Formats: sequence, C-alpha cells, structure tokens
Amino acid sequence: MKKLAVTVVMLIVACLTLVAEEVGQVTNIYGRENVTSLNGMWRYIVDVQERGFYDYRMNETPWGFFLDAHQKSPMDLVEYNFDTSSQMHVPGDWNTQSERLFFYEGTVWFRRTFDYVPKEGKRAILYFGAVNYEAIVYVNGKKMGRHIGGFTSFNFDVTDALKEGKNNVIVKVDNKRHKEDIPTNIYDWWNYGGITRDVMLLEVDETYIEDYSLELDKKDWQHLKGWVKLNKREAGVEVTVSIPELKVEKRVKTNADGEAELSIKAKPSLWSSENPKLYDIRIEKGEEKIRDEIGFRCIETDGKKIKLNGKQIFLKGVSMHEEAPFSGGRANNASQAHTMLSWAKEMGCNYVRMAHYPHNEHAVREAERMGVMVWSEIPVYWTIDWKNEETYANAQRQLHDMITRDKNRAAVVIWSIANETPHSDARDEFLSKLATYAKGMDGTRLISMAMEVTSASNYHNRLSDNMNKYVDVVSFNQYVGWYRDVNDASKMTWEIPYNKPVIISEFGGGALAGWHADKETRFSEEFQENMYVENLKMLDKIDGLSGMSPWILVDFRSPARYLPDVQDFYNRKGLISNEGQKKLAYYIMKKYYSER
Ligand code: GCU
Repeated sequence: MKKLAVTVVMLIVACLTLVAEEVGQVTNIYGRENVTSLNGMWRYIVDVQERGFYDYRMNETPWGFFLDAHQKSPMDLVEYNFDTSSQMHVPGDWNTQSERLFFYEGTVWFRRTFDYVPKEGKRAILYFGAVNYEAIVYVNGKKMGRHIGGFTSFNFDVTDALKEGKNNVIVKVDNKRHKEDIPTNIYDWWNYGGITRDVMLLEVDETYIEDYSLELDKKDWQHLKGWVKLNKREAGVEVTVSIPELKVEKRVKTNADGEAELSIKAKPSLWSSENPKLYDIRIEKGEEKIRDEIGFRCIETDGKKIKLNGKQIFLKGVSMHEEAPFSGGRANNASQAHTMLSWAKEMGCNYVRMAHYPHNEHAVREAERMGVMVWSEIPVYWTIDWKNEETYANAQRQLHDMITRDKNRAAVVIWSIANETPHSDARDEFLSKLATYAKGMDGTRLISMAMEVTSASNYHNRLSDNMNKYVDVVSFNQYVGWYRDVNDASKMTWEIPYNKPVIISEFGGGALAGWHADKETRFSEEFQENMYVENLKMLDKIDGLSGMSPWILVDFRSPARYLPDVQDFYNRKGLISNEGQKKLAYYIMKKYYSER
C-alpha cells in the first residue's frame, strides 16, 4: 500500500510539474513540412464537477482522467476509462456532436493517442488552432500548460514529454462563461465548446523559423519589407526568402536576437478584389522549408475616403459568424468558408466583417484567394470587466495573437478592437490602450470598432465616441426598423463629426425564411425586405459613407433567441437561412451593390 501511495504522489508531482511551456506562435503551420495532423476521432469524458481535476476537498490534484489508468487486476478501483468512452470529431464543437451536450457549458476531457519516434536534434511542437474556452493540455500525463481564449491558436514544445511508441495527449476543455472573460458572460452567439480547430504535431530543428512578416512598403510600392524571427536568440543563421515569380532571392543573416530584417526591391502586381494576386513565397533555413502565398496591397484612408492601392473603394460587405452552413456548429475549414464567401460574392460583396472574434485561418486565406477584404475582430463585446487587469491582459493577448497569425494576409484590411461597448472612462482607457497596441503591432492596416450612436433627439442621431481619435475608420451599428420603427427611417438624420471614413458595421432585422405576409408583419420576409429598402435610402444620405456590413449573411444559433417556431434558438437576421434559403432582403442588397 505504501509503495502505491508513493507512486501516486510521484505521479501527481509529475503531473503538476510543467515539463513544457507555451512557446511563441508558430505561424503558417499549413505551409510547413514535417507536420502530422492529430485531427480525427478523440475519446471524451464529460466532467460536470471537474472531479478529474480537483479532489473532494477542491484541491487541484489533477490525478484523474489523464493518468489513463487501466484496471491491472479485478480488485483495482477505476471509475473512468477513455478506451470505452464515447468519441467525437476534432476539430468540432461538442454541442452539435452530441444531443446531450447541446446546451452543455462545463468541462469535457479529450484524449488522442498517437505513435511517435523521437529524433535526435528535433523538437516537437503541439499546435492547437483554437480551443473554446480554456484548455489545459497534458502529454503522457505531464502538464504542458494552460491557454484561455476561444478563437486564437497556441502551441507547446512537448519534446521532453514524448516517448517512443504510443503517446497520448489529453486536454481539459472548459467553456464556462465568466464576467471577467473575453468575451464576457453574455453575448449573442452560441457558446460552442470543444477543440474547435485543427490540432497538429510539428517537428522542427532545435533552431527553427518561428515567425516572419512580408508586406508592401506603404511609401514605396516597389519595395517589400518585413522580417524573419527564429525561436532562439541565435546570430549568424542564414535564411533565404525567395519569390520565384518576381525573380527575387534574398539571403539574410540573423542578429543576436535571432531576427533579420527583410528589404526587397520588387514590383509586384497589387492584390485587390478584382485581382486577388498571391505570390508563392519560400522561406528557407537549411533543410527547413516554409511556403506561403502572400498578396501585396496598400490600404489607407484619405479624409473620409478608404483607398486600396491609391483608388477610392466602397466596402460592399456583409457580417458573418463562424458557423458552418447547413450543418451548423463552429465552422473550421476552407470548404465551409468557400460556401459562405461565395454567397457573399454572389450578393456583390468585396468585403466581409468576420464577427465577433478571429475566424479560423482557412477562412481568412479563402477570403484572400477569393478577393474578399476582411474586418477581423477580437471579442471585446458589450459589458466587459473594464477595470480588471487580467481581463485587459486577456484582450491584449487575443489581439496580439490575431495580428500575429494574420499579419501576412492581404485580405485583412481592418483590425477591430470592440463591439457595442457602453461608454465609460474605464472603457475608454481599456480600448485606447488596445487601439494603441494594435497600431504598434501593425501600421499597415486600419483600426476600427463597432461603436454605438447616441440619439441627440428623436430623429437626429449623433456619433459621439471618445474613441474616435484612436480609430482610422469610424464604424457603428444601428437598427432602425428592427429595434425602432422602420417608418422613422425617412425622418432620421445622422451626425458624424469626424473627418474619417464611415462604415455601418451592422444594420438589419429578422425574417423566418419562407414565411410571407405583409411588410408590417414582424419576422415575415416582406418585413425584412422593406426594412432593408428603407435603411439603404436612409444610409445613403450619410456623408463619408465608405462601407457597410449588414447583419448578417446567415441565420446563426443564439441562446437569446427563444421564439418557438420562428427563432428556435436561431438569430433570424440572416439574409440567408441556416439551410441556405435566400430571403427577399438578400436580393435588395444584391441590387444595391450592383448599382454602387
Ligand atoms: C448587436 C450585436 C450582434 C447581435 C445583434 C442582434 O448589434 O453586435 O452581435 O447579434 O445586435 O441584435 O441581432
């Protein structure tokens, strides 16, 4: 008995001892070699009381499920068993893969086994595209680390935890909501829990290329600039960056920080919606080869104009949630993105607002290939815990990780730091720090946020937001016709006292696809159609109107939309139903964009 107790204690200590740490984001995982996908069927155990993590005195003694114990003799007490537990697909949310988990918010433990052969001089990086909301990751019973935030990628160096032969990775996923989180505990979308994006195992040298940037110099369109960064502070390492189509081959050597500047004379064909030109880019260090597709373009503002490559543009957009068309659930792949972006393009869009959180990398790359510009956003949404320093650190971390992942994506033209946040000094301080941080990370893109207008009088609306000086584009949501009588639309005036371009980041209303009645009947297609007609006439009067992203392309699940036989836990503001039926209002937008 004493021996067993000692063993258990040793195992607990081993489990509690971090044998790894979260390493910097390994960007462009899909363009790297020696990558093994761990996608597929994972075993899972639903742990409502987190008994696999706490003992009955609520001490953190994670000795439970991930010891992967097996009954060694009929006498052994084992009250869980991954091998005989249910399975679900990763990537994927649990809500749409198990009826019993549709509304579930709590902990689910996941396990994947895999074979591995450690190699001398190689490191193994375990990559997660996203886990919603908190992930605690173990490899062979050893804790790798914890990540919070449901929409950004993270990775651990797990080399020292791996062994020859069969290995296991176990993840404690907890999607409970908390006031101090980002997003906070209320929001108008479904809280899909799970390992919601790809899981990959990457094998690299001890010294590898962790990250890189390559962009068009805003001041000289025949100059590309950027940098390469190793995982270590190692000087004198040679890295070659080549762009075959432009006959460019640039050799650089890293400095003492393990970084190297890139400055390349070239005359690329510029990326745009009409010409979504991407160049094959190769970044190589010895045997390490990374391939990317990068487009070069310049996005800027000039007074109330938005200019792409020096030409004024109008952002003909639509908002999107990251929800799989037809099947529902958290979207996670290029094919789903292609379907939704095709619907947007068919409607005449050259732009989408990927709301309210960073969408998966496949979706952003698909938009880039299809020539669709992107507004990418962190979920600083509604009533954030503005005075909480940990909340700010979480928001800034998610902003950092969103920009780090997508900084080389030509399609992304706007970083958004918030949506509909109630005004206060604490809110202004929180958001101005975020906006400044975003600008510091990336001076090539526009910064915005979805503000709220305040009504100056019954029919006169004024946009008055202290954040106006921190954004490049002023954007706001308005719902005349849905949260206010549509007959007021023709009487409304809008005052936007800032010499900046204006985007209407949301407007719209609901309709149950296929339900027809007169235009006064709420939730009929005719009601929604008329609301769009009246809104477009009203919005066209706004001076400096440079774009819009009506809410929303497709009906999406929300726990706040209860109405039986009409909503059934769907927000019905889609221009298309969750079954792909285009509503009358879709054609109003299509006509409007064709005439823009
Ligand atoms: C808000 C919010 C959206 C929400 C929409 C609605 O503007 O930004 O996330 O879905 O209103 O009420 O449908």
